[in-house]
Amino acid sequence: MIRDLWYKNAVIYNLSLSTFMDANGDGIGDFQGLLRRLDYLHGLGVTCLWLGPFQTSPLKDDGYDVADYYNVDPRYGTLGDFVEFTHACEQRGIRVIIDLVINHTSDQHPWFKAARSDPDSKYRDWYVWSDSKPENADQGMVFPGVQKSTWTYDREAKAWYFHRFYKFQPDLNTANPEVHAELLKIMGFWIQLGVAGFRMDAVPFIIAEKGADVTKPKEQFGMLRSFREFVQWRRGDAVLLAEANILPEDDLEYFGVDGDRCHMMFNFQVNQHLFYALATADTGPLAKALEVTKPRPATAQWGTFLRNHDELDLGRLTEEQRQAVFAAFGPDKSMQLYDRGIRRRLAPMLHADRRRIELAYSLMFTLPGTPVIRYGDEIGMGDDLSLPERNCARTPMQWSDEPHGGFTKSDEPDSPVISGGVFGYERINAAIQRRDPESMLNWTERIIRMRKECPEIGWGDFRILKTGRPEVLALRYDWRNNGLVVLHNLSDKPCEIVLDVDGHGETCRLVNLLSEDHSEPDAEGRHRLVMEAYGYRWFRVGGLDYLLRRTEANGKPGENV
Ligand code: NOJ
Ligand code: CA
Repeated sequence: MIRDLWYKNAVIYNLSLSTFMDANGDGIGDFQGLLRRLDYLHGLGVTCLWLGPFQTSPLKDDGYDVADYYNVDPRYGTLGDFVEFTHACEQRGIRVIIDLVINHTSDQHPWFKAARSDPDSKYRDWYVWSDSKPENADQGMVFPGVQKSTWTYDREAKAWYFHRFYKFQPDLNTANPEVHAELLKIMGFWIQLGVAGFRMDAVPFIIAEKGADVTKPKEQFGMLRSFREFVQWRRGDAVLLAEANILPEDDLEYFGVDGDRCHMMFNFQVNQHLFYALATADTGPLAKALEVTKPRPATAQWGTFLRNHDELDLGRLTEEQRQAVFAAFGPDKSMQLYDRGIRRRLAPMLHADRRRIELAYSLMFTLPGTPVIRYGDEIGMGDDLSLPERNCARTPMQWSDEPHGGFTKSDEPDSPVISGGVFGYERINAAIQRRDPESMLNWTERIIRMRKECPEIGWGDFRILKTGRPEVLALRYDWRNNGLVVLHNLSDKPCEIVLDVDGHGETCRLVNLLSEDHSEPDAEGRHRLVMEAYGYRWFRVGGLDYLLRRTEANGKPGENV
């Protein structure tokens, strides 16, 4: 029996409507286009789609500036199209989660318009105001270098309003009970239309105390519990996936010690140290990041990822570590962003080296948690550094070698398709790769299939095994009497390792899941393995009869899942 925590062994695919597929030819992707590509996604094997924001919006921050929470932006389609879409996903066994952007609205939202124009409006207190310029107005910007302050004077209101992000994104006063009730209503609305949860944008800021006199904002963790209770009463299998780039010591506050707050969080700690490991071939800090993010309630889950729609944020690394990643993957100032990150896509960062891209993805797919893939990475798409800020990694999906990569019939796509050179749609596209068994696309499809057959990774406990070499990371997973060992050599040189799979005296064969290269233990039960440059191995401990040995339960009742 498997408890139905679907997110424990899911494969999540992140896409943005505007750049996926344009069906009506206006140059902007839409729901009709996405619907036509659902079979592609189904074939790729992903089990959950995470859609970036698509509600009515002036689109000044790619939709993270919502002007109507209860509508689809007309550029993408209608609510009718949305329901067709969630229905079509359900038919294919694919769940849908959507971005929930509730820390702030657009300044074009009717609530903000009412708030700024009428001090007596009930909406005035839905935002965060100050009569005079707060002392900390030039502190706490999320986009340093681009965003000048966190408080802006509004002439109409004759007051200053707070905005954690850009000035066209006024923060909601989330402590106001009426605002809170409205936020629940928004969640209920989309759940009713078929979504299985939310990627909650900017969670630490939603729950932070806000106000002109707040110097050290405390988090209101009770809010997370109330969101959780609400979504789960409305739909039992709905999840909250939090975007919260926090310190490991706060992880349990966000998950809740009893697993009563967020179901999932992106593991930013592991993400940053993973890139450090890829840059330097030193897996020590990554191993440490895995250990410090290990404690979590049995029902909680990490979302593991390589790149997403934002910059690769390296803010949690030491200065020295960050410089090492910059030097390897973003040496040019034009590749860096907000003094802390790299704005490129994965493939160009890894110099389009197929061995390194496979290594990075193999590692990501086998880290503790649920993998989250960024659209286009499955074919190794590149970036366009001539576009501002994060837009460089948000170009249209490259479907074929037809004009504009088969993304649109329009002559003027809203965002230009990458063309020419190593990453142009003429060379990198889904149609060509579909026909080539050795392509990145088909590799990704195979690795997803394998990952889904390894529930130990999603559900089980892990241990880091000693390899005696800092460039080789070895993880062992155990779940219900089944074991898995995964090895990754992050160096550009081959090496030999001696591995004790630490099976409490068991001397087992390691069966390779990806090739015929199995490993027999020596008399002491150790394995001697030669890892090629950037090599990776997925081994089952014991034979392929493992399913016959799998037990129905794990640990004591209530202790594990
Ligand atoms: C985080 C999102 O990922 C980012 O794209 C956005 O700009 C900010 N939150 C503001 O909503
Ligand atoms: Ca369109």
